[in-house]
Amino acid sequence: MLDIEPAKQALEGVRMELIDSAFPLLSGVVATTDPEEAFKDADYAILVGGFPRKAGMERKDVMAKNVAIYKGQASALERLARKDVKVVVVANPANTNALILKEHAPSIPAENITCMTRLDHNRSMGQLSERSGVHISKVQNTIIWGNHSSTQYPDVNHATIDGKPAREVIQDDAWLDGEFIGTVQQRGAAIIKARGLSSALSAGSSACDHLRDWVLGTPEGVWVSMGVLSDGSYGAPKDVMFSFPCTCKDGTWSIVQGLSIDEKSAEKLKITGDELVEEKGLAFECLKE
Ligand code: LMR
Repeated sequence: MLDIEPAKQALEGVRMELIDSAFPLLSGVVATTDPEEAFKDADYAILVGGFPRKAGMERKDVMAKNVAIYKGQASALERLARKDVKVVVVANPANTNALILKEHAPSIPAENITCMTRLDHNRSMGQLSERSGVHISKVQNTIIWGNHSSTQYPDVNHATIDGKPAREVIQDDAWLDGEFIGTVQQRGAAIIKARGLSSALSAGSSACDHLRDWVLGTPEGVWVSMGVLSDGSYGAPKDVMFSFPCTCKDGTWSIVQGLSIDEKSAEKLKITGDELVEEKGLAFECLKE
């Protein structure tokens, strides 16, 4: 675990809690404020540190702070981590932070750098489970397209509940096309409002889900949402980190191909894609300054 010097004491508290949890799979903990120590020979990196937007800050100012942070993290990974390190960026703006990281860690394969939209994916499954009254384990194949932001598109057109199309089970297209989408898009903000802090438990749990499925594979017939370098599939802009439905096998992810996209969905994909292109432009401007 790496944190900045002012957070050293809190980090020690987390270290104590990890030891106290008696996790049978935990063989040791390093808690450090030294990137050299943290990144040395890392196989996996979960990057949760970022600079949050504060009152009165312009988007560009927040981006400039995060660009500086992610350039630094990239250079530490590039120098110190194993070349096959798998990276998941959680901190916002997660997709663009991951893109900056990719740009500045050229020796790490681009497919090894991802960002987390599994939290949004899980949120959309949770909403469908609550609404239908069907256990979460029977909800499958929702999709989060695009950015981990309020423009993301939670798409249920291919989702199933207990093996049947979600729309057939829910029987309320107005809710699925309206409130459902808004709830998932705004869930992060709703949690901040309720708790006074960002999501923690669900974000941590989703990061575990993301890495576990990436490394161990997705079950047959099931996909998950992951922010990965776009190859332009489904008309998404190329060379941004875009959330797609992915399956994983032998430690590699692939974008699920051939899903039908209706006109309304294509419009929503465009909105979130445009935002990512704009964020990329802003980030690259900050890099030049
Ligand atoms: C979340 O989705 O819970 C977070 O990304 C929200 C935030 O801005 O920290």
